[in-house]
Amino acid sequence: MEKILVIGKDGMLGSELYERLRNSGKYEVFETTIETLDICNLDAVRNKVNDIMPKYIINCAAYTNVDGCEKNFELANNVNGVAVGNIATCAKEVGATLIHISTDYVFDGKLPTNEVYTENMEVGPVSAYGKTKLLGEENAKKAEKYYILRTAWLYGHNGKNFLKTMVKLSEGRDYVTVVCDQHGSPTTTTSLCEIIEQILEKNPEYGIYHSTNEGFTTWAEFTKMIYEILGIKTEVKFITSEEYKEMFPESSDRPKNSMLSKEKLHKIGIYPKTIKESLEDYLKGGI
Ligand SMILES: NC(=O)c1ccc[n+]([C@@H]2O[C@H](COP(=O)([O-])OP(=O)(O)OC[C@H]3O[C@@H](n4cnc5c(N)ncnc54)[C@H](OP(=O)(O)O)[C@@H]3O)[C@@H](O)[C@H]2O)c1
Repeated sequence: MEKILVIGKDGMLGSELYERLRNSGKYEVFETTIETLDICNLDAVRNKVNDIMPKYIINCAAYTNVDGCEKNFELANNVNGVAVGNIATCAKEVGATLIHISTDYVFDGKLPTNEVYTENMEVGPVSAYGKTKLLGEENAKKAEKYYILRTAWLYGHNGKNFLKTMVKLSEGRDYVTVVCDQHGSPTTTTSLCEIIEQILEKNPEYGIYHSTNEGFTTWAEFTKMIYEILGIKTEVKFITSEEYKEMFPESSDRPKNSMLSKEKLHKIGIYPKTIKESLEDYLKGGI
């Protein structure tokens, strides 16, 4: 059986991915958590990788607090950027393929909202998080055999997420205010796991693949969709990013256009579920 090492197994994505890969019975699956492997420690990464000799290394570890990255840039840059180079170097040493998870936030979001970003378009992050993740992309390429999967607006059962926050906020309130001018694709961890599983099966050409649910929405419209399905009567009031920033001055800037083309994924025969289908699937498992 092929060996897979899942790094970051306690995270929202990593925990689900690890369980799914194990339960598939197709692979021998190994894992590390922040307790068992600090990816910033090159020697520790090398020892772990040399012990296991995996065919694939899937990096789900990251510093994911977008606003926190502004204040803790050095730590975020080490985890999201420099440490990815550690993993990539060790992957190359043993001939493993690296699957690394990146983000829509590598783009500046200034593209008109009637256009979508393809994998080869110019990047230009507007946030500290985006900058650190971009360094991670550059470093992931050192593996030589690599897939960089840019996902977006990720939510899953095993972590804090936007959906849980909006449901909680609705309790006892007549209305909530939500940003209406950031466009993107909320993506479930389950859908991203399905994409990863298909990448493992198909072994397409190495490179970057935009990996989100199908379709586009805004945070405000997505909130309306959630409330509608759950029968929550709280009104969703639309606000602009600028109004949000006035309310939360310390919040990080976010791209207004985060819409990622899935054409490259389609060309290799991978068709992610739509935003609504995946949301409905998610809600079958509770909030
Ligand atoms: N969440 C989103 O909306 C979103 C959007 C686009 C892309 N992504 C990307 O998707 C991937 C998965 O995200 P996620 O939401 O599943 O993240 P997550 O829940 O925050 O999980 C990340 C895991 O990495 C661990 N970690 C942090 N520093 C580490 C270190 N130095 N060594 C080893 N492990 C470390 C964290 O431990 P602690 O919890 O103890 O810190 C956590 O268990 C990430 O690459 C993220 O950048 C996420």
